Amino acid sequence: MANVAVVGAQWGDEGKGKIVDWLSSRADVVVRFQGGHNAGHTLVINGVEYKLSLLPSGVVRQSKLSVIGNGVVFDPWAFIREVNAIKEKGVTVNPENLIVAENVPLILPVHSALDKAREEAKGAGKIGTTGRGIGPAYEDKVARRAIRLCDLTDDAVLVEKVDALLAHHNALFRALGAPEMTPADILEPLREIAPQVLPYAAVVWKQLDELRRAGKRILFEGAQGTMLDIDHGTYPYVTSSNTVAGNAAAGSGMGPRAVGYVLGICKAYTTRVGSGPFPTELTDDIGELIGQKGKEFGVVTGRKRRCGWFDAVMVRQAIKTGGIDGIALTKLDVLDGFDEVKVCVGYRLDGQEIDYYPANAGAQARVEPIYETFEGWKDTTRGARSWAELPAQAVKYVRHIEELIQAPVALLSTSPERDDTILMTDPFAD
Ligand code: IMP
Repeated sequence: MANVAVVGAQWGDEGKGKIVDWLSSRADVVVRFQGGHNAGHTLVINGVEYKLSLLPSGVVRQSKLSVIGNGVVFDPWAFIREVNAIKEKGVTVNPENLIVAENVPLILPVHSALDKAREEAKGAGKIGTTGRGIGPAYEDKVARRAIRLCDLTDDAVLVEKVDALLAHHNALFRALGAPEMTPADILEPLREIAPQVLPYAAVVWKQLDELRRAGKRILFEGAQGTMLDIDHGTYPYVTSSNTVAGNAAAGSGMGPRAVGYVLGICKAYTTRVGSGPFPTELTDDIGELIGQKGKEFGVVTGRKRRCGWFDAVMVRQAIKTGGIDGIALTKLDVLDGFDEVKVCVGYRLDGQEIDYYPANAGAQARVEPIYETFEGWKDTTRGARSWAELPAQAVKYVRHIEELIQAPVALLSTSPERDDTILMTDPFAD
């Protein structure tokens, strides 16, 4: 049975939420395997808007099992807030249709405090994080001092681990001139939230194995995008997890063969939030117009997104490093009405042409895009549900992108509505 992983192929915000939701109608299980509540997915279903950060997008389809895997960093307070917000919209959420890996590391108040204090100390050189404590929580996981969901069942262990955690974090707070925390600052809120979150704790790897063997279809839902991957992205201006599909298995407790088709999501242009290099960024009126038409504001932080032309070199690189089989192209309609549209087809670095994005941060900042210019289209692509409904120039643009990125467009999304989607290849086909 083919399982599918959906990952971002740019800097996040590619419109994964809609595609995951669309695909989840065909899946039995939807799994988040990395990131945390830094992600922001907007789903529009029958005119109702749902904003999700930590919960898998499958949660709005109550008959599906939604899973938060061990590769996620889990903020129990954000989790309960989001569960309650979704319930208020009439969606049934309970431990029958939503489970969390018992070995998931927790994001604690200490992590968001450190995230913010460090960003402040960095001044102009800041990463522009979401301030949710994602990086510090992953640091604690790798340093083997994280408090995990399963630790909430054993108060003696918890007390010991909080002491060890604070010995480390208070030293950092002192160095940053930030207020220190006491064990009670961590323990009391944890003891309060524990009875609310523990019912959702589960042996996820085991349940997924049983579901896989029963032939259930699993959809792995990536957050952020390849260019924010801790290894393959624009380091250090990245998030702190592997966002590529290679992490779907490890981040959920399954083997590498668990993932079948890898669907990469990208916009017909490029956006980025936070700091860091962005070769095709447009700081002129065109960039402003793309931002306005595309409503490019962050779901989590409300920050204005930086906008630019489609970068085929970068997306091709994401396809290679992420093992992406096909692309879902979103927001093509935002380019409707432009006299011309450009696509980056190569870079110039120190006088030389290169066909990949270099790893060195200085080189990443220096590369200049080499563009190909396309004639624009005046007719709208919005809401199209077949190729025949698309203007000829728009089809030409999409076809050329396929050649440049060396991957087929499997899906074309033509509006935020679930049904405004043109399917070329079925990712779930066996
Ligand atoms: P962090 O994940 O909060 O540590 O932020 C690190 C970088 O990733 C910053 O540039 C954020 O803006 C970016 N980032 C994190 N999550 C998302 C997302 O869901 N969409 C887009 N950018 C994100």
